[in-house]
Amino acid sequence: MEREELKELEEMEGPAERAEVEERAKELFCTNRVAAHGGVHSHSNECRDGEPLISLNNITKNYGARDAEGSAVVLALKGVNLQICRGEYVAVMGSSGSGKSTLMNILGSLDLPSGGSYLFNGKDLKDFSERELARLRNREIGFVFQSFNLLAGSNALDNVALPLVYAGVPLKERRERALEALREVGLEGRAYHRPAQMSGGERQRVAIARALINKPLLILADEPTGNLDTANSIEIMRLFEKIHLSGRTLIVVTHEEEIAAFAERIIRVRDGIIVEDKILAK
Ligand SMILES: Nc1ncnc2c1ncn2[C@@H]1O[C@H](COP(=O)(O)OP(=O)(O)OP(=O)(O)O)[C@@H](O)[C@H]1O
Ligand SMILES: [Mg+2]
Repeated sequence: MEREELKELEEMEGPAERAEVEERAKELFCTNRVAAHGGVHSHSNECRDGEPLISLNNITKNYGARDAEGSAVVLALKGVNLQICRGEYVAVMGSSGSGKSTLMNILGSLDLPSGGSYLFNGKDLKDFSERELARLRNREIGFVFQSFNLLAGSNALDNVALPLVYAGVPLKERRERALEALREVGLEGRAYHRPAQMSGGERQRVAIARALINKPLLILADEPTGNLDTANSIEIMRLFEKIHLSGRTLIVVTHEEEIAAFAERIIRVRDGIIVEDKILAK
């Protein structure tokens, strides 16, 4: 989606257009849309402030459809039970193919589970319409991806403001809030740079500013430092620490123990189940 399209979106009004905008928002932020469905491990922790922000109950995810030989189904998640309280900072670890991204996609409602239930902020996502799910992704959840997922033709300011376009915020306010978000990640001096004119670390900070712009309850980051060198990775983790200290709930997938050590809880996934769930002593 380039500048013209963005402009087009900005000029749209009325319910039909809004639905289309939401559809495009979905496309933009979806990574993995495959039809959905079955193992077991549980960690139950009481949350100080009542119900957990996230409660997964026996979540399963099967990819693909059974072929004639009945061999095409991948059991990516085999019964995940997980509760995460508001304000927690959780790292998700596990080898390649263990199901981390599948889990993150379900947590972000980018994909539906094949079985089990998911309660977000006390509400069962099964009861949500597509429209309500799109709204949830736009307002309550901020996404950060390994490959940044920025619009190449838009500058940092417009990239950061994008979720506000979908939220129907007027242009002037969008610009102000995007600039403020860029300031928070130390990039106000790069507001008019396009992604190609920024370093990898800067691009990821723009993506984080975009994830924060709607003040979401939850930030999901799937290998946010996977494309960065050590110095930039540390910079990004400092930023996540700041976000955590401001009270947000953070879930970060990583392959690196040093990155996971920034979190206060580590969950390990193996072959579609949670095999370890531990609180780090700080
Ligand atoms: N869209 C898909 N269609 C079919 N199978 C899939 C799909 N996405 C993932 N899988 C399979 O599901 C399993 C879990 O994949 P997932 O992407 O969740 O792993 P991961 O832990 O994130 O791995 P990595 O560390 O390499 O990112 C793998 O066996 C993978 O091949
Ligand atoms: Mg992955």
